[in-house]
Amino acid sequence: MAEDKNKQIPDWKRDFPIDQEESTHVSRREFAKFLGLFSGALALGNGAIVLNSWAFPEKDLEGEHFICDENEVPVGGMKQFEIRGTKEIPYILIHLEEGEWRAFEQKCTHLACAVRYRADIQQIECPCHKGYFDPRTGVVIQGPPPRPLPQLEVKVADGKVYVKSFKDTPYTS
Ligand code: FES
Repeated sequence: MAEDKNKQIPDWKRDFPIDQEESTHVSRREFAKFLGLFSGALALGNGAIVLNSWAFPEKDLEGEHFICDENEVPVGGMKQFEIRGTKEIPYILIHLEEGEWRAFEQKCTHLACAVRYRADIQQIECPCHKGYFDPRTGVVIQGPPPRPLPQLEVKVADGKVYVKSFKDTPYTS
């Protein structure tokens, strides 16, 4: 009789004898195990990030870099650029007024969205969470960014725009 019953059950069902309701059931023990593994993976990931930053610390920008000709960016305009070197960071060059230029890292200090200069309100805007920065100093005016935008020093000579780190020898104007 039991043999007859076994014959009625298809092979696949005999190999996986789990009811449909049981297939989605997660026991407390399984859930705790999952949480433990997930937390462990997170801790490992964070540890790897810390070790990486210790092993390969970010270096300051070195030297002076040509960005563009002065007439490429009109007053009120902005140009994105990158400097290839120890780390590739996007920057923005802003032509605030005649003869007045600024350059900042383009990564917002909140969650690294790309910021842009808005000439209509004369502020640097981060569109992700409405963070606003002063385009002269990079200081936070409003919103969630915790720090000012890192700034580069700008020099214009013979119609050409150059930038370098403020930690280098300052430009004499
Ligand atoms: S990423 Fe810029 S305000 Fe959030």
